[in-house]
Amino acid sequence: MTQIGSPNRKPTVFLLFFAGVLIAFLCLSVIFTYSSSDPIHAHSRSRSTDTCKCAGNDENPPPGFNLGFDPPVLTFYDDPSFGYTFDTPVKNWDKKRRQWLTLHPSFVSGSEERIFLVTGSQSQPCRNPKGDHFLLRFYRNKVDYSRIHGYDIFYNNVLLDPKMVGCWAKLSAVRAAMLAHPEAEWIWWIDEDAAFTDMDFKVPLERYKDRNFVVHGWPREVYEEKNWLGLNAGSFLVRNCQWSLDFLDAWADMGPQSKNHEKWEKILWKTFKHGADDQTALAYLLVKEKEDNLRSKVHIEIEYYLEGYWVVIKDTLKNITDKYAEIEKREKVLRRRHAELVSEAYAKLWEPHLKDAGYGYGSWRRPFVTHFAGCQPCSGKNNPAFSRESCWEAMDKVLNYADNQVLRNYGFTHPDLSNPSVVTPLSFRH
Ligand SMILES: *[C@@H]1O[C@H](CO)[C@@H](O)[C@H](O)[C@H]1NC(C)=O
Repeated sequence: MTQIGSPNRKPTVFLLFFAGVLIAFLCLSVIFTYSSSDPIHAHSRSRSTDTCKCAGNDENPPPGFNLGFDPPVLTFYDDPSFGYTFDTPVKNWDKKRRQWLTLHPSFVSGSEERIFLVTGSQSQPCRNPKGDHFLLRFYRNKVDYSRIHGYDIFYNNVLLDPKMVGCWAKLSAVRAAMLAHPEAEWIWWIDEDAAFTDMDFKVPLERYKDRNFVVHGWPREVYEEKNWLGLNAGSFLVRNCQWSLDFLDAWADMGPQSKNHEKWEKILWKTFKHGADDQTALAYLLVKEKEDNLRSKVHIEIEYYLEGYWVVIKDTLKNITDKYAEIEKREKVLRRRHAELVSEAYAKLWEPHLKDAGYGYGSWRRPFVTHFAGCQPCSGKNNPAFSRESCWEAMDKVLNYADNQVLRNYGFTHPDLSNPSVVTPLSFRH
């Protein structure tokens, strides 16, 4: 190493200076190339006639998002009547989104599949002393999943509409995220108390190509039994399009900020014998409509755990871990060390070995999302059907189970899922 004051110092500084000039020159020419191209014409072929989709284009993918470029052409953002809240309706969103993408060509490639995650919790500290600690770990888990798959994520912790309190807050966050992220095709809401427990699995978007809203549940329970517990609003995907904005408007019309709230409270009580919350309201939207436009655009996902109930999942993790370990022991390539950012390549290599595993309930595939519904980690007011301790225990186990899939890329593992503090170096030679 060059010591300060050593005879080598001057030439080194000189060389560094030259390298700096060269890098600055290269950066400038990249920026210049971007801003001097004609974005509208260069990418006009990517325009789609389909009203609910913004087509991407995978030819010549640009090197990355051009984060420093916003042309001075007026867009919906410049319209004085445009707003992020439910009291400022948006019209022609598909066209507006498409125009924005055309003006920002570096975001076009891959936009058809782009997912943006949204989650959140309250603005105040949790009443439960352990609550914030668990929320941090749940959030870390979501950040891990997002990083591995190249998704962006937004954690909201304020009421964007002060009257849309409690579980209703997610609707205003989702709506604002749709408008703030015209580059994303899907907004994925996920509750703060849900964790990704299969870091490899990706939502099968090709299955939803004609759908605009995806939620986990049992279609028969919802449509025939008219049971509001036949779905769970803790994890849902919504396509970033006008249909979805209208759908959210109809959903939010039942919320506490709405002038129609009292009327809806009565209707929801009559229908479900349960108060008005985000989930009864969502169930009502699906139940009341017959074979209409709305149902045909909604997919109630039953085949994998877009959201899974922790009580059902927690005791299956041991056997699932053993199954995966057994396969890994046989298949050397699955034990190969690799950079975290190429994890999806290894997820693909796993697939042939998991073809008999199944998905969701009764399967030995890793459960995709484990949701601690009823545990209320922040308030601590858990469902009396189970003890608070059983919630904490299961959260530790589930979060460490997920963490092990992440930590292995860093060379470590939690040997004991009930102890979040201890890791040991991982051996890749079995
Ligand atoms: C785990 O596997 C063992 C042995 O096959 C079986 O007896 C047990 O019921 C399984 N446990 C769970 C929770 O599925």
